Amino acid sequence: MYELAITGGRPLKGTVRVSGSKNAVLPIICAALLAKSPSIIEDVPDLVDVRSICTLIEHLGAQVELEGGKLRITPPEKPDTEAPYQLVRRMRASFLVLGPMLARAGKAKISLPGGCAIGSRPIDLHLKGFSLLGADITYGYGTIEARARQLTGSRIHLDFPSVGATENILMAAVLAKGNTVIENAAEEPEIVDLANYLNSMGASVRGAGTKIIRVKGVDHLTGTTHKIIPDRIEAGTFLVAAACTGGEVLVENVIPEHLQPLLAKLGEAGVPIFEEQGGLKVYPVKQLRGIKVKTMPYPGFPTDMQPQVMSLLCLASGNSIITETVFENRFQHVSQLEKMGARIKLSGRSAIIEGDRPLHGAVVKASDLRAGAALVLAGLAARGESRVGRLNHIDRGYEQFEQKLRALGARITRKIRAEKMLHHGVHPGIYIGQGRRQEFPGEGKYQ
Ligand code: EPZ
Repeated sequence: MYELAITGGRPLKGTVRVSGSKNAVLPIICAALLAKSPSIIEDVPDLVDVRSICTLIEHLGAQVELEGGKLRITPPEKPDTEAPYQLVRRMRASFLVLGPMLARAGKAKISLPGGCAIGSRPIDLHLKGFSLLGADITYGYGTIEARARQLTGSRIHLDFPSVGATENILMAAVLAKGNTVIENAAEEPEIVDLANYLNSMGASVRGAGTKIIRVKGVDHLTGTTHKIIPDRIEAGTFLVAAACTGGEVLVENVIPEHLQPLLAKLGEAGVPIFEEQGGLKVYPVKQLRGIKVKTMPYPGFPTDMQPQVMSLLCLASGNSIITETVFENRFQHVSQLEKMGARIKLSGRSAIIEGDRPLHGAVVKASDLRAGAALVLAGLAARGESRVGRLNHIDRGYEQFEQKLRALGARITRKIRAEKMLHHGVHPGIYIGQGRRQEFPGEGKYQ
């Protein structure tokens, strides 16, 4: 129903505070099921995905209270052992409840998460890990059932350093009997945050953030209080937004070390960014240069920043090449950027971006979360007005996105899509910013 109307061409200015990390809080909310007593999770971003996973663990028997960025989770005595399709299908990360359910209840039935816009996203590595921990895995119609009277520690080598598989196996291994070693583990900061949370509940996890994670199983875990790390992808998105508009922005609540792979590439492209005032400050770009980027698991260049950096490189002088090695179908923003005047040639897993082509406004739509952010950034840099549709994708992972951009001087408003208003026989001019609008005859009020 909604779209973002953006008038571009104004440099962003000011300070923006980054929210807690979506990709850290989702597995941590699942891990709260592992404990026998309540946990308090702080700096929780208010996102659609966070609400979805809270609804899922409530369905499994947990009590959840979310207030002012603080989440109080009271785990059930014994979690329910079935995660239904209508909840799991909302969000792939729901599959991360499987490890905790198996560890706490000895069995779990969950519907297959299926693929998404950016790739087929199989879960074979998760299941391989659970079988090596002694679980019996059976496939039903669109479901997986895992059973284990007692999980037992094991040596698990991951064929690919999958973030989700590392997290799921780790959460199962902390309550398994004996020692587990996860080799070729994912090294993302979100894995370290999960391990810190588990250890503060009494687990024994060593080596998180490296390729080898060692877990010594324990009998039980006790709830704790934990503050979520800042969202490095949201921080990166605002750094690139500033660079796209030639702005001057201080991004606060960041851990610069988590952004090194991105900062290195932005430096190569000529974007001046410095650590100051407890954050990262972007200064106006003099000359933006074309560069080569290859996405890789951490500490390589993050695939979740690939679309946003593509928008920036459309503005560079000279050509750029982006190679996407993590997901097989993460170039759907290309056709939308071309509507805005970009010229991008796809060849296998690479995109060749022609530089020196100014962008202009257009009506475009998001195919997934980061593609949506990339189109908003392109709209901020473009001449004229753009309309970005399918905001449900953006709302999944950016808290107060347009409000934060507006506070930096962006001309951006959320409004009902023109054709929807016409459908209701109302002239598109009648709307109020901030997502609220006049009531249509016989219609409920939007928040
Ligand atoms: C996490 O997804 C993030 N999501 C993704 O962020 C991110 O893009 C991805 O890691 C890579 O960094 C969350 O943390 C909730 P993977 P995940 O398992 O865990 C293949 C965003 O925009 N694979 O590391 O699903 C898979 O197909 C989202 O915030 C297998 O082959 O990613 C993919 O090609 C998008 N078998 C690659 O590994 C498996 O069993 C990376 O997937 C598992 C994965």
